[in-house]
Amino acid sequence: MYRPMRFSEIVGQEVVVKLIKSALIHDKLSRSIILHGPSGVGKTTIARLIAAWYVCTQRTNDDICGKCEMCKAIQNDSLIDVLEFDAASNTSVEDMREILNQCNYAPQYSSNKIFIIDEAHMLSRNAISALLKTLEETADHIRFILVTTEIDKISNPIRSRCLCIQMQSIKPSEITMHLNALPNIKIDELAIKLLINLSNGSMREVLSIVEQASILSDTVDMNILTQILSFANDSSVEDLMQKIVTGDFVGVFDLLQLILQENVSLLSVLNQLIQLCREKILHALNASVKEKLLINLIDLNKLYFSSTKIAFFSEFITIGLTEIAYKNKAD
Ligand SMILES: Nc1ncnc2c1ncn2[C@@H]1O[C@H](COP(=O)(O)OP(=O)(O)OP(=O)(O)O)[C@@H](O)[C@H]1O
Ligand SMILES: [Mg+2]
Ligand SMILES: [Zn+2]
Repeated sequence: MYRPMRFSEIVGQEVVVKLIKSALIHDKLSRSIILHGPSGVGKTTIARLIAAWYVCTQRTNDDICGKCEMCKAIQNDSLIDVLEFDAASNTSVEDMREILNQCNYAPQYSSNKIFIIDEAHMLSRNAISALLKTLEETADHIRFILVTTEIDKISNPIRSRCLCIQMQSIKPSEITMHLNALPNIKIDELAIKLLINLSNGSMREVLSIVEQASILSDTVDMNILTQILSFANDSSVEDLMQKIVTGDFVGVFDLLQLILQENVSLLSVLNQLIQLCREKILHALNASVKEKLLINLIDLNKLYFSSTKIAFFSEFITIGLTEIAYKNKAD
């Protein structure tokens, strides 16, 4: 997946980027910072961009170049002045000591040596003590960028020694703008809505689905998305339909909770229900059954179109489907 190579390529995070850039320009960025916030919103990316700021050979006051040898080396994790440490896979104090030992060697390409500690909440207690000690004792040219999704798990002594920068989920309007501006791919309005709903503000999630979709087609619509997203199996959809038409509204509610646990999007379940209902109508032999199914189809469609317009559709669809079943019971 393409990782932004300059600050200007970051989607959203306007305030954070402004703050960081302004601090960098005036050489006032705190020596130790913590970037925290939800998953897939650009934390690791920004940590690397900050590191690149110190070494980029063609930096302007506004941004790094993203393509000089130094910028490239950071992107490939091959610059010895920047050490990236994944705390999720190196939790022990020995791992930490080994990396902190690098503080003893002077930087080669700029006046800074930068440690990026990703998933910092995973560090063991001893590893944290070693880090704290280093934060206190090391020379000014050592910089730490801690990255985490779980700021609550970072101890107070560490937090109080760092500048904590909170990153936000990417807003629907920002996702829409970015997707509309992508070259070589056209994503239709409904597909963008579905992507926004599914991603929960994670740009990584959005881009990974778009990347998969782009392999299948250069125009992405609901049809393409439904081919790659995970769906409920046919028998649960059949079961759900049965419960809806027989008015078993409690059963509908319970089954939807089970489906949600499988990480299936209720919007795609609704889509599947609509297809199934159509089929049943085509094959209905009895006029009153057909009539009832048609009324259900109208309700399902209405629910579908209202759901694509709101961010938190799971609850909305659960209640909507339960209501359609309840109406069938009353009839
Ligand atoms: N704000 C953003 N703008 C543009 N692309 C982004 C943004 N956030 C994430 N991405 C995309 O998602 C990928 C992963 O982003 P990154 O590793 O920076 O996220 P993260 O916040 O560190 O997530 P995690 O907490 O899960 O590690 C990037 O390579 C990029 O393609
Ligand atoms: Mg990360
Ligand atoms: Zn550069």
